[in-house]
Parts: sequence; C-alpha cells; structure tokens
Amino acid sequence: MTEQEVLLTDVDIIVSQSDLEGFIIYANPIFYKISAYPKGKLIGENHNIIRHKDMPKVVFKYMWEQIEAKKEVYCFVKNKVRENGYYWVYAYVRPSLNRDGTIRNYISTRKAISKKAKNIIEPFYKHLLNIEKKYGLKESEKEFNKFMQNNCYQNQSYNDVVHSIQY
Ligand SMILES: Cc1cc2nc3c(=O)[nH]c(=O)nc-3n(C[C@H](O)[C@H](O)[C@H](O)COP(=O)(O)O)c2cc1C
Repeated sequence: MTEQEVLLTDVDIIVSQSDLEGFIIYANPIFYKISAYPKGKLIGENHNIIRHKDMPKVVFKYMWEQIEAKKEVYCFVKNKVRENGYYWVYAYVRPSLNRDGTIRNYISTRKAISKKAKNIIEPFYKHLLNIEKKYGLKESEKEFNKFMQNNCYQNQSYNDVVHSIQY
C-alpha cells in the first residue's frame, strides 16, 4: 500500500508532553486528528508509537542528548499516521524544569515543515539512513555533524542552522 502524505495546514500545531522517558502524558486534539488515533489512545504510549521507519536514529539521539542536558532543540521529523500515511513536521522540543532545576517533563510543539526544508531534509535523511544501515550510528553521526557544520554560518548553533533551513 502506498503511503499517503498528510499535509499540515499553517494553523495546525501538534503539541504533546511526555515524562522523562518519552511516554505521552498529554496530546492536543490536533495530534489525535493528524495521527488518526481515537481520543485518549495516545496517553501512556511512548512517542515512538508514531516513529516512521524512514527516520534516522541519529536525529533522535541528538534530540535526547539536547533535552536531557536541559537544552531546547529544533529538528525535522517524519511521523507515522496510525493506519497508513505520514506527515513531516518542524519540531521544537524542550524540557520543563522543577524549581530545584531537575527535569519535570518534556514538551514538543510541531508545525508543518516548509517546502524548502523538505527538499533538503528528505534526501539528507535517506542518506543518513543508508549510512546507518551500512556502517552504523557512529558514521551517521559524523555525517549529521558534517551537514550541520557545512550549513553553518559564522557561529550559528545547530538550532540556528535548523531554523535557517526551515525559513
Ligand atoms: C517530548 C517528546 C516528543 C517526541 N516526539 C516524537 C515524534 O514526534 N516522533 C518520534 O518518532 N519520536 C518522538 N520522540 C522521541 C521518541 O520518544 C523516541 O526516542 C523515538 O521515536 C525513537 O524511538 P526508538 O528509540 O524506539 O527507535 C519524542 C520524544 C519526546 C521526549
């Protein structure tokens, strides 16, 4: 069965909140709508329930490293729709901290990937996935860092690079 792409409109913002291991504790109505889950059925599931097989592991490794270090992170993600299909997002993931500075939970806010970004990121993720399959995660991580550095102007952070690819 060919996979259908679900296109987010400009007003679609997908929000979810997770515990420290990525298990969903909140999902907004748009999340249910886009990913085609009945209301309530995402709670208690790990976010990897919507993981698409085309996603390179290195992207999630990078994301987790950032948020566990209490940093916010921007990244592009291809997600799975429940029965059949997928959608691309530009995601902003951040930790929410307790008063004592420990991490309380994580929040992700996602909107549509731009056409420009999709044209760059889709082939790049295919490339990363091939590298992961052939040579493993370490090599894919090198490619990921190389790509970020090649797209970096002056002292831009990785978040700045991702932002400049989206816009
Ligand atoms: C707040 C938050 C949001 C996340 N959103 C997604 C998401 O939209 N899609 C996704 O595949 N993984 C998301 N993840 C990461 C997953 O928990 C998981 O690490 C990833 O899907 C890789 O799964 P795997 O290690 O089982 O392959 C999110 C994690 C957190 C903490």
